Amino acid sequence: MMSSLALFRNPLLILLSSFLVLAAAAQGASRNVSVGDFLTANDQNLTWQSPSDDFEIGFRHTPDQQDRFLLAIWFANVPEKTIVWSANGDNPVEKESKVNLTSSGLVLSDPSGRELWRTKSNQDGTGGVSHAAMLDTGNFVITSTNSDNIWESFQNPTDTILPGQELGINSTLSSAFSARSYKKGRFQLRFTSESLGLNRIDVYTGRSFQFYFNIADGSGLIFNKSGHIQIKKSNGSVVHIAPENTVPIQNFYYRATLDFDGVFTLYSHSGNGDEGWSSLWYIPGDICYSFTGPNPGLGIGPCGFNSICQQDPDGMVNCQCPPGFSFLDAVNKHLGCKPNNQSYLGDCNEEGFTIGEDSFEFNSMPFVDWPYGDYELLQPVNETECRRSCLLDCNCAVASLEDPSLNNGIGNCWKKKLPLSNGWYNKSRNDRIVLIKVPKLGESPLRPPNLNPGKKKQNQVVLILSVLLGTSAFFNIFTLIVVSLLLFCFYQRKLQDLKRINRKGEIETNLRSFTYEELEDATKGFKEELGKGSFGTVYKGELSRNYVAVKKLDKVVQEGEKEFKTEVNVIGQTHHRNLVRLLGYCDEAEHRLLVYELMQNGSLASFLFGVLRPSWQQRLQIASGIARGLTYLHEECSTQIIHCDIKPQNILLDDSFTAKISDFGLAKLLINSKSHTLTVIRGTKGYVAPEWFRSTPVTVKVDVYSFGVMLLEIVCCRRCVELEMEEAAILIEWAYDYYNEGNLGKLVENDEEARSDMGRVEMLVKVAMWCLQDEPSQRPKMRTVTMMLEGALLVPAPPCPFLYSCKPQDSSNINPEFP
Ligand SMILES: *[C@@H]1O[C@H](CO)[C@@H](O)[C@H](O)[C@H]1NC(C)=O
Ligand SMILES: *[C@@H]1O[C@H](CO)[C@@H](O)[C@H](O)[C@H]1NC(C)=O
Ligand SMILES: *[C@@H]1O[C@H](CO)[C@@H](O)[C@H](O)[C@H]1NC(C)=O
Ligand SMILES: *[C@@H]1O[C@H](CO)[C@@H](O)[C@H](O)[C@H]1NC(C)=O
Ligand SMILES: *[C@@H]1O[C@H](CO)[C@@H](O)[C@H](O)[C@H]1NC(C)=O
Ligand SMILES: *[C@@H]1O[C@H](CO)[C@@H](O)[C@H](O)[C@H]1NC(C)=O
Ligand SMILES: *[C@@H]1O[C@H](CO)[C@@H](O)[C@H](O)[C@H]1NC(C)=O
Ligand SMILES: *[C@@H]1O[C@H](CO)[C@@H](O)[C@H](O)[C@H]1NC(C)=O
Ligand SMILES: *[C@@H]1O[C@H](CO)[C@@H](O)[C@H](O)[C@H]1NC(C)=O
Repeated sequence: MMSSLALFRNPLLILLSSFLVLAAAAQGASRNVSVGDFLTANDQNLTWQSPSDDFEIGFRHTPDQQDRFLLAIWFANVPEKTIVWSANGDNPVEKESKVNLTSSGLVLSDPSGRELWRTKSNQDGTGGVSHAAMLDTGNFVITSTNSDNIWESFQNPTDTILPGQELGINSTLSSAFSARSYKKGRFQLRFTSESLGLNRIDVYTGRSFQFYFNIADGSGLIFNKSGHIQIKKSNGSVVHIAPENTVPIQNFYYRATLDFDGVFTLYSHSGNGDEGWSSLWYIPGDICYSFTGPNPGLGIGPCGFNSICQQDPDGMVNCQCPPGFSFLDAVNKHLGCKPNNQSYLGDCNEEGFTIGEDSFEFNSMPFVDWPYGDYELLQPVNETECRRSCLLDCNCAVASLEDPSLNNGIGNCWKKKLPLSNGWYNKSRNDRIVLIKVPKLGESPLRPPNLNPGKKKQNQVVLILSVLLGTSAFFNIFTLIVVSLLLFCFYQRKLQDLKRINRKGEIETNLRSFTYEELEDATKGFKEELGKGSFGTVYKGELSRNYVAVKKLDKVVQEGEKEFKTEVNVIGQTHHRNLVRLLGYCDEAEHRLLVYELMQNGSLASFLFGVLRPSWQQRLQIASGIARGLTYLHEECSTQIIHCDIKPQNILLDDSFTAKISDFGLAKLLINSKSHTLTVIRGTKGYVAPEWFRSTPVTVKVDVYSFGVMLLEIVCCRRCVELEMEEAAILIEWAYDYYNEGNLGKLVENDEEARSDMGRVEMLVKVAMWCLQDEPSQRPKMRTVTMMLEGALLVPAPPCPFLYSCKPQDSSNINPEFP
């Protein structure tokens, strides 16, 4: 259990595995390093190894700056080549820099010979250096002519200790800055006058804060050779602290690292490639909460300001931004969040009132709190008053109404200001209503299509119909004619709109062709990875001051060329607000890259399944946006396109949360051929339609099915398969059961916004059940789905979607005639 989770504990490990460093050929019989020996930072990858080959010291590329090198010690026999010590994390060196063993110790110098770093002897007057050696324990030792150890890497640790290593008074471990950078980070493990603890440092001055976690009193930390962590007390006795059980040391590698997120973790590794490092033990047990204890009080917590922190069961810290905020750095998510619009709280008038309070609304966030952002307490008040006070107060960013359930909706209303600090997420804290003030979505120029107009249209039709039913025959005929004319004009307009879009699309399909060099520059050498799509990795780049996403197709993929052509062809010809826009491409020798507009808010998957539930309105808008995008692909562009891989990971969100369909790597073009029986199943488990498994033709209805799965995910904010939920593991079955029982409230149990809009919830679930019909011809077209979602068409009761597993009474439904 632990080991599978721990695979993800440190993304760096996975990353580093790509920097396979080939050991140099055996360096003669002796493993001793003699005075005058040196290593050069280049692609030869020469190293000094320990006799068992378990550890080596040498230069390697830094993950965040590919042209720079780190002098480091690492595990040579684990596939990730995990670094345990480094000399120059803050200052990686250029190519052709050297490290020499001189008569005074190790000296690191740049290509021009300028000294950058040297070992400081911990003993004076012990004579010159005799030799040095990389030991099997992972310790690099420099020995003097009188056989004293002048310098040891074990005495000068960075962020990791190894079995056999001890930390004494005055020694510290400093975390790395991020998963991709070995710069000194924000956390320390440190002794202060006989007590050991974890603290944050002020990054601006380097000063240490008070402990956020007190480990123990004592005068030393011992990582003993069996992999146990112990504290040495001042009277000499040794106290065992962790872990209870260990795997046999002779079969495993061990390390204890102060991770960049402030968690001190003991790891083991079998040396086997598939397993990665397992976390055996870690402190603090809940780092998000550690920072809110009485001890350090204020502070930014492990996720930075304006963020929300949540710790996974394996210790990994998960950071999120509240609605209206985005990460300072999309790659290093633990650095904090900033408002999307700095002036978003609006202006204050002379009396401290919000100017234009009508342009703000509240998003409610269950289970979240920022305990240290309070500046005012109203008590006791009801929710209406709490909202009003925060809305009108131009300093107020968040209002938290505590314990309203205890006293008929009346409780303590805390008003909070920016920056919000120490945000945490605790699923068992449901005794408060937390409201964050955000600009109304409609205020943005890129406003997503609103669902309400659709509803209004329906109301108008209903009104006209009731008029029809209640008046004379002549008047009825007259009205019918008028209504038909109106509808005709309406659709005519619609058609023209569509044509206009298509024409515009044609003009803008002139994709730009980039050279590889241009894109290498734009991405600063493919530095910031945003994620992986099908068949390629996506990097952040900047082209003439605009951020772009550059997808680099994997060379190894046999199908690469085909994917590339498909993707360029498919999206090159499309233009729709709900499809991600392709700006250009590069097709040069073996390099195949695609350049897209960058979507600020990442994928729907991270939005939907993160700690924060997106607002109900946003989810409704996203659902109808995706439906429009698919309608366009299926029915409105010149060649019909089947996406084949619709899932939340492939839906991106721009800064106003407009949904954009992306990743057309698997798309199929239906050009003049009617039947498509494929031998290879495409798409993603959980979202693929049942006909992929039969020998029936594949049609646009496969996308309708995947959309149905995703629609339920959007309603319930949970994944289509969630194994730990056991009997509720398969979302579509779980949802159908509750739908069938007439108990839809269960699907949105903790979601107040949705619960207050059960009519809409029922409509969405019914649409999803239609989309999920086993029999493709029973599924509606995307255009019909769009109309139902927007309220332009009533949704008939769906039959049981599953061909073989329905109770008899479910399947009695008629097949309705959809337009
Ligand atoms: C050294 O390592 C780099 C990066 O891991 C690799 O590309 C290169 O081929 C290696 N060089 C040799 C001589 O093994
Ligand atoms: C390393 O050098 C020291 C001193 O010259 C010598 O005693 C020791 O045997 C050498 N070790 C190896 C493995 O050659
Ligand atoms: C390190 O060794 C190289 C090769 O012998 C030499 O050119 C360089 O000057 C030495 N650097 C130092 C700082 O001793
Ligand atoms: C720890 O550091 C303090 C101040 O730098 C020094 O006075 C003390 O001797 C050091 N203690 C040890 C055990 O090195
Ligand atoms: C390490 O500590 C554990 C628990 O305190 C103990 O059982 C074990 O014998 C120790 N191993 C060594 C090599 O000291
Ligand atoms: C050392 O001190 C600890 C408490 O700090 C105590 O539990 C232990 O018995 C002492 N050991 C000896 C040998 O005095
Ligand atoms: C930021 O908010 C202000 C005030 O609400 C608004 O006038 C401005 O247009 C917004 N800027 C952006 C880039 O959305
Ligand atoms: C909240 O309190 C105010 C003032 O006491 C009162 O006028 C209002 O009706 C209350 N609202 C609700 C929803 O109870
Ligand atoms: C979460 O909230 C519950 C209920 O208030 C509390 O008992 C628990 O300690 C909290 N957990 C954390 C980590 O704060």
